Order: sequence, then C-alpha cells, then structure tokens
Amino acid sequence: MIPRYFIVAERDHEIQNPTSEEKLLLLGRRIRLGPDSRVLDIASGRGGPALLLAQAFGCRIDGVEIAPEFQAAAVEQAEARGLEHLVSFRRADASLEELEREEYDAALCLGASFVYGSLADTVEALAPSVRPGGHVVVGEPFWRHLPLPDDYEDRADPWTTLEGTVTIFETSGLPVVSLIASSEDDWDRYETLRWRACDEWLARNPDDPDARDIEVRHKRFKRTYLQHGREYLGWAIFIGWKPDGAP
Ligand SMILES: C[S@@+](CC[C@H](N)C(=O)[O-])C[C@H]1O[C@@H](n2cnc3c(N)ncnc32)[C@H](O)[C@@H]1O
Repeated sequence: MIPRYFIVAERDHEIQNPTSEEKLLLLGRRIRLGPDSRVLDIASGRGGPALLLAQAFGCRIDGVEIAPEFQAAAVEQAEARGLEHLVSFRRADASLEELEREEYDAALCLGASFVYGSLADTVEALAPSVRPGGHVVVGEPFWRHLPLPDDYEDRADPWTTLEGTVTIFETSGLPVVSLIASSEDDWDRYETLRWRACDEWLARNPDDPDARDIEVRHKRFKRTYLQHGREYLGWAIFIGWKPDGAP
C-alpha cells in the first residue's frame, strides 16, 4: 500500500508525473501508436496517460494500479469519456503480476520503477511482455548535475545522471531510441498541484489521524523541491526499443 499522503497530494493530478499532455502525445507518435496497438501501463495511477493515449490514437491499453482510490478514479474517467471499450484498469500489485509474453506493442511504467526495485529490474520485467520491434517506456528521475549539495535531504534516492540512466537501460539489452525530458513548467505543475491539494485538505481535516504525517511529508517535499530539487532533479520518458532482427 502507498502512504496516504500520495492519495491526498495527487487527488487533482490527471498526470501524476512532471510531464504534459503534449509530451505524452509526442510519446505516442514516437512509438507509432495506432488503432491496432496494444499497450500495457504499469502503475497507471488515475489513468491520465492511458486515457489520453487511447483517445488520441485509438489504441487499447491495460492499466495495473495498486491504490484503490486511483484505480477507481481511472475507471470513472474511462466511463465519463466513453473509453471503456479501449482501456481497462485492474487493481493489483504489479510486481506480483505474471505478464503475458510478447503480448504488447508497448509496455509503459511512468514514474514507478520502484515497483520492480530499480530501473534495470523494470526493463527486465517488462521487455518479455513486448513483441520484437515494440517498445519499453520508463519515466524516471535523473540528476541534472553532480555532486549534490551536502544539505540535499533526499540525496539517498537511487538516481544517476542522464547518461548513466540511459546506460542502465541499455545494459538491459534495449537501445534507448528516444527520450522526452521534463521542463521546469512540467515540474512546477506536478509539484505545486500537490501543495494546493495538501494545504486545502489539511485546513479541512485538521483532526484526521493522518493529518500530522501528511503535513510533515508535504512540508519536507516542498522544502526539498524549493531548496534543490528544482535545480538538480530531472525527469524524462526513456523509450527503449526491442530489436526485431529486421535487416
Ligand atoms: C508517480 S505515480 C504515476 C501514475 C501514472 N503512471 C501517471 O503517470 O500518471 C506512481 C503510481 O504507482 C502506483 N503504484 C505504487 N506501487 C505499485 C504497485 N506495486 N503496483 C501497481 N501500482 C503501484 C501508485 O499508486 C501511483 O499511482
């Protein structure tokens, strides 16, 4: 189960990552999605990316999401937008799922490589589910520059540089054929939507048993972002290609 902080903080996010609709549509074009495509979306959250891609490209998408609140929001949105025939959102711990071999044209894991332990584990877990010639797509943080300041509170996070991230991906056997990086605006949207959600929720629920924990996490994330995160932390969608052996 994920900490309740995330349920509260991301209740207004359609896309629960520092990226944008435009960049997700660019992703869809880069991996050549179309009405015949089948896509797996690991940790599909509130369904924003899957719904956007299904609507724009007519592809079919299977989402897997552990948080009941997020999965329910995704199902509700699919119905509201009339996309139930294209998307499904299953509530499950994705790390325990047996993925069908070579079933998908693309497997996505946007902002959730921790599900499998690491980026390398994620690429290794998802690659078998993709057909030769298909894509494994991972959204992942990276450090814009090193070394980190001594007072960076989240310095234990397991990220590396942009080049190091691509190397980890490619060591798993899939060349990175494209990347789509976040801008400062993408980060500000993602981070500050959390601020608004938390401040509103805390003001309205001061006696909730989780209020203290949510307040502590909210203040720490906000402080870390303002002190150093905005300058040092990058995020990108890395697109790996599973070679098809074609000449
Ligand atoms: C940063 S959010 C990204 C959501 C979505 N991919 C997006 O881009 O909008 C990470 C998601 O991973 C989900 N998650 C965490 N652990 C999971 C697991 N073991 N199995 C499935 N989903 C998980 C969280 O509930 C959350 O929705």
